[in-house]
Amino acid sequence: MKLLVSENEVQKKVGSLARKISKDFSGKEVLLVGVLKGAFIFMADLARKMTVPVKMDFVRLASYGSGIRSSGKVKFTKDLETSLRGKDVLVVEDIIDTGITLKYLVRCLKARRPSSLKVVALLDKPARREVNFQADYVGFQINNHFVVGYGLDCAEEHRNLRGIYILN
Ligand code: IMP
Ligand code: MG
Repeated sequence: MKLLVSENEVQKKVGSLARKISKDFSGKEVLLVGVLKGAFIFMADLARKMTVPVKMDFVRLASYGSGIRSSGKVKFTKDLETSLRGKDVLVVEDIIDTGITLKYLVRCLKARRPSSLKVVALLDKPARREVNFQADYVGFQINNHFVVGYGLDCAEEHRNLRGIYILN
């Protein structure tokens, strides 16, 4: 494994995202919607660095098939427990790869009539995109590497690493 983003760089970036987001949502309450499992550590740190009131909920999505490549089909295996109607929603995701997961999720959630819906992703691999999708806030754009740590796994391993590592 090779270090890509150190713990310190991650924490600084999460701090700057939290400041920007808090400024953009100033005067509002934000419903953070975390995408399990990968986003749970990022969301925990982001939420604690934000200065506007937040509520939190989670979804879990499965793309059919497993392993490094996703097959392009997505379904909810755990849905929200909160209504989105009239809420200011921020979807929190670990990484954007093909873009299929977030494109599907955003379409589903917008249909529930939130008053606004934005997306933050800690990592983005734009070279891997198969569908057109852009997040509103991105921590780091990275090259086409498979990465683990800070919530991201390979077969459930390495989620608890504090930095982000390239898996070889
Ligand atoms: P997408 O639908 O292809 O954008 O896939 C996004 C999901 O694939 C992320 O939420 C991750 O769970 C997983 N994923 C994509 N790239 C990586 C990676 O480099 N490491 C770990 N998980 C990844
Ligand atoms: Mg994920």
